[in-house]
Amino acid sequence: MSEVLFEITEKELETGMRGYPVGYCITSTVQPEKGLFYRGEPVSEMADKDPLSVIYLLHVGHFPSQKELLTFKEAITERSLLSPEFKKTMRSFPRNVHPMQMLIAALALAAPFEGTGDYQEDALRVIAKIPLIVATIINHHAGWEPKASDPSLSYMENFAHMLNVPGQDEKALAEIFRVFNLLHYDHGGGNLSAFIGKAVASGLQDMWGSLSASMSALAGPRHGKANQDCLDFVRSLHQELGDNATEEAVEQLIRERLNQGELIYGFGHAVLRIEDPRAVIFYSIGETQFPKHPLVKMASLIRKAGSKVLAENPKVSDPHPNVDAISGTILSAAGFPYSEYFTLLFGLSRVVGVSRQIVYERLEARDGKGVPIIRPKFYFKQ
Ligand code: MLT
Repeated sequence: MSEVLFEITEKELETGMRGYPVGYCITSTVQPEKGLFYRGEPVSEMADKDPLSVIYLLHVGHFPSQKELLTFKEAITERSLLSPEFKKTMRSFPRNVHPMQMLIAALALAAPFEGTGDYQEDALRVIAKIPLIVATIINHHAGWEPKASDPSLSYMENFAHMLNVPGQDEKALAEIFRVFNLLHYDHGGGNLSAFIGKAVASGLQDMWGSLSASMSALAGPRHGKANQDCLDFVRSLHQELGDNATEEAVEQLIRERLNQGELIYGFGHAVLRIEDPRAVIFYSIGETQFPKHPLVKMASLIRKAGSKVLAENPKVSDPHPNVDAISGTILSAAGFPYSEYFTLLFGLSRVVGVSRQIVYERLEARDGKGVPIIRPKFYFKQ
């Protein structure tokens, strides 16, 4: 390939490398007008799938046969437990920090307890162990009793089981976690958590340390923490307008907030130019399963009014809701209203895609030589 892919002039500097081509991503693509594809398969058609079958697709490149799925499940189950020392370490974390800080710290410390130093094997271990790591952190942070893993359960049923949310229907929660989990595995190569994970691994940091950095990237409000902030936004509009809010009232409030320079959460995307297909799946779950839930009703009004108001502004390139606009509301309606844990659910899922992207860049890219250490150029400025 010798044609010019992208031209960089001074006006492209300090723009977050928006759209700069830097390499290949084998796991997924985000197409502006079509949405997300895992290994060429549309994610919009995956809402009913078994998470392990989608993880297999991302890691191996095709959906598994029944036999392949069984072997994969065995490989995951046999790696799924954690050493007592590592669990003890996580349970010694101070409880007054954001639980994402605990996840970042846990992954930074995990290698000597859970790692092998082999990117491929550690990717498998991360996928196997991340449900227990996240459940241990949330239980510790929330003060919920730890509950032992049950290998007879499916991947997300076991997570919901270990999470031990007080007074909740474990099966219903597992079902929402399943959908949330498989919709968040990967989002192309250039989203911040994927890019940072790969960049840190390019210095030959191991899988766990690279994923710790990736989760640190995810923890920011412009990336993974957006789902927590979006639910807070839906709640604040509901608090102000009540259960019987109309689309007109929501529209007016959105206009007022924009005029006051406030943010309207959950709209727009760096790449997408349509409504995020992952959001479409969650809105449809809201309409069919929780049509009377006050926050689901409010999120639907925001979906319409927000798009309308933002579309009037020619500077807004994408006025559509993204997945964060609705995912937290659905988790909340399904019995998991704990917004400070939403980014952990995102992380629990996203390590699947990032770990595979790291394996590609370290072991497969450039005929196995791997991508060199990331080293872009910055101009000196006085
Ligand atoms: C994601 O899922 O990672 C977000 O939509 C952010 C992105 O793609 O840049």
